[in-house]
Amino acid sequence: MPGDGIGPEIVAEGAKVIERAAELNKFKIKWIEYDNGAEKYLRTGELITEETLKEIKKKCNAIFLGALGDPRVKPGILEKGILLKTRFYFDQFINLRPVRLLEGVWCPLKDKTPADINFDVVRENTEDFYVGIGGRVKPGRNKASLEVLRELYNIKFGLDIESSGSEIAYQIGVLSKKGSERVVKYAFELARRKCKNKLTAVDKANVLSDIYNFWREIIESVAKNYPGISYEFNFVDAVTMWFVKNPEWFQVVVAPNMFGDIITDLGAMIQGGLGLAPGGNINPGGISMFEPIHGSAPKYNGMNVANPIATIWAGAMMLEEIGQPKAGEQIVNAIQEVLKEGKVKTKDLGGNAKTAEMGDAVVKKLG
Ligand code: IPM
Ligand code: MN
Repeated sequence: MPGDGIGPEIVAEGAKVIERAAELNKFKIKWIEYDNGAEKYLRTGELITEETLKEIKKKCNAIFLGALGDPRVKPGILEKGILLKTRFYFDQFINLRPVRLLEGVWCPLKDKTPADINFDVVRENTEDFYVGIGGRVKPGRNKASLEVLRELYNIKFGLDIESSGSEIAYQIGVLSKKGSERVVKYAFELARRKCKNKLTAVDKANVLSDIYNFWREIIESVAKNYPGISYEFNFVDAVTMWFVKNPEWFQVVVAPNMFGDIITDLGAMIQGGLGLAPGGNINPGGISMFEPIHGSAPKYNGMNVANPIATIWAGAMMLEEIGQPKAGEQIVNAIQEVLKEGKVKTKDLGGNAKTAEMGDAVVKKLG
């Protein structure tokens, strides 16, 4: 699903590299292209339909996504109607985002090297403030929901909404025991698989204490099954500080959805920029979706200057997830070789190589 903006350009490079890796490892990929995105939406009003999702469920092992977002469409429509819809439909409850500085990449953190920046963020991907429960309450309207809010959440507005003509808006974050347990368990398992011995859990339990104390209790209970892995709690504001000051402290980080979203943009920067940061929306045993964590960059649309590495790397994660870990590893190694050599650099890396030249360079390194 190439999507919008630079999406088609970077997905073409990702597919090119995946094809070569498949050839080398003697397996075949069958591609089905879905044109969901801004163009289709503007033309037909369709975001992504139940039929399309059902068809994907029937025919596909994984989804390779470019990016979504277009200046002609109000923010939120494509993101919620296609991206989040797909993540939720396939219950992709893990958002795995490696933060790894590769050799040859300029790092904005002084004196930090690839040895210092190498951890995984496991972001919860279906709950928290992404559940879509919220509303706006105006005087004379939605009175019932205002009463419910007052009662359930004991919110003290300090003014009489009816008589002051004021208005409120609210958005509710929800965690479930099942939803939190499964992502925390995944994070511990990942740590075990990668022989890491520390897990950092992110929250804001000092303020949003109902929701994130619940989160902490779940971490404590799951941790009992992993005696060899220590864990610590970090407030999200402090995490942003430590990512910059001491990234070497982190091995596996587990975060609720929204904090995970925010800290992984920071993670992308410390690994050299958004052009280098991949992600996987994973449902182990289900249909997962892989994408660069950057957006559709409409201002570079059609210019063939975007860095396809994040997408190529996401493709490597996809191969690992669908049972071709060797091919995935070879791709990551090839990316590493190209960056280390430093001959082919896209605009974001300070060079003037085109998107396709970067893809070709990775293919060449694959051999
Ligand atoms: C991301 C994006 C999305 C998110 C948006 C576009 C819905 O920022 O993948 O990080 O918040 O998850
Ligand atoms: Mn984001």
